Amino acid sequence: MLVLGFLGSPKVNGHCSKLLRKALEGAESRGAVTKRFDLIKLNIKYCKGCNTCYRNNPGLLIGKCPLKDDVAAILKEYVKADGYIFASPVYDANVTALMKTFLERTIMLSYKAPDAYGKLPESRCPANFKKKAAFIVTGAAVDEYKEVMADPCFDSIESHLMIAQVDTAHEMYVGGVENITGERFAERLDEAYKLGAHLVDEIEKELNAG
Ligand SMILES: Cc1cc2nc3c(=O)[nH]c(=O)nc-3n(C[C@H](O)[C@H](O)[C@H](O)COP(=O)(O)O)c2cc1C
Repeated sequence: MLVLGFLGSPKVNGHCSKLLRKALEGAESRGAVTKRFDLIKLNIKYCKGCNTCYRNNPGLLIGKCPLKDDVAAILKEYVKADGYIFASPVYDANVTALMKTFLERTIMLSYKAPDAYGKLPESRCPANFKKKAAFIVTGAAVDEYKEVMADPCFDSIESHLMIAQVDTAHEMYVGGVENITGERFAERLDEAYKLGAHLVDEIEKELNAG
């Protein structure tokens, strides 16, 4: 089983990164192979809205995008994976622009017929809810602000997964990170580890159900 982690924080050793690392360790503890993408280190251009990718050959697993960057290579691994962990800090009550920029480019995984006005695009590789995702969001605002800070982030990520029929297994908000105590952060790291393990258990259940 392959689980991919995506870090939307520009800080590769910040709170969000540490939580993602633990979550991936949790997934590995259940036998998953993991790979992590630190989006800040990758060449990810803005979607230009040309519609080329989702209008070309419906037989392709990944629509061809005229932009030359790292996204097509990331998506080749993305379509092979069984599970995903998305980790982003809250920036202005949503995911970071870095995460959003990547999520927008996953439109390459969709197809829309030229005359399908007003309809949602179709996934080129629908997961039939066999694939699962987990989200980790960190913020300066304490946990009680989850609804206003983290929920919009979860919704942003989920709206991209909806088309591909990828199920959400777990959502975790870690608030108050800017002055969190070492002891409290260690507890949250434990939770992240469990999130990773739980994600793999949930995917296994689906795979065993056939
Ligand atoms: C531009 C910017 C906007 C931010 N907006 C919010 C916000 O709306 N809500 C919040 O709780 N924290 C906000 N923060 C704080 C970050 O979420 C926090 O520093 C981050 O989660 C820490 O994770 P990191 O160590 O990976 O950077 C913001 C930080 C920056 C730099």
